[in-house]
Amino acid sequence: MSLEERIAKSRTTLFKAVFPEMTNHHNMMHGGKAMELMDEIAFMTATRFCRKGFVTAGSIVNHKKPIPAGTLIEVVGEVVKVGKTSLKVSVKIFVEEMYTDNRFEGVDAQFTLVAIDQNKKPTLVL
Ligand SMILES: CC(C)(COP(=O)(O)OP(=O)(O)OC[C@H]1O[C@@H](n2cnc3c(N)ncnc32)[C@H](O)[C@@H]1OP(=O)(O)O)[C@@H](O)C(=O)NCCC(=O)NCCS
Repeated sequence: MSLEERIAKSRTTLFKAVFPEMTNHHNMMHGGKAMELMDEIAFMTATRFCRKGFVTAGSIVNHKKPIPAGTLIEVVGEVVKVGKTSLKVSVKIFVEEMYTDNRFEGVDAQFTLVAIDQNKKPTLVL
């Protein structure tokens, strides 16, 4: 399988409704909850890319716009760089109003995940 095919095949998305258990006292999506969802999507994207075991080594997160309660979100993960034992996965959260077609990017993040072997040591991604 080519790299492009692997990247396309492992692109991973998740839709959720921003219900009260996900929001803070400002009536916006809680940042920690967003991180949890994005880390899980990054992990699933990396796993689906090459079916190896992965741990998260680091992340850079840019909360661009608040995500209001009562919206729909789409979390999208895509491999953007393939290293020796690590992958960089872009994770974005897109926000949609429930009763309009308005859609915008709320969060833009990049996660580094490292493939590990049975001894939890870095191993080749491919
Ligand atoms: C991630 C971990 C396996 C890396 O082990 P290590 O011995 O430091 O790894 P190395 O120095 O050999 O680097 C391995 C690769 O990871 C990358 N890397 C390591 N630490 C990194 C970091 N903090 N940020 C970005 N990349 C990192 C290196 O650039 C290298 O990439 P490459 O092989 O593609 O060139 C180790 O630090 C670890 O287990 N950390 C804890 C992970 C964890 O508990 N995560 C939370 C739960 S999933």
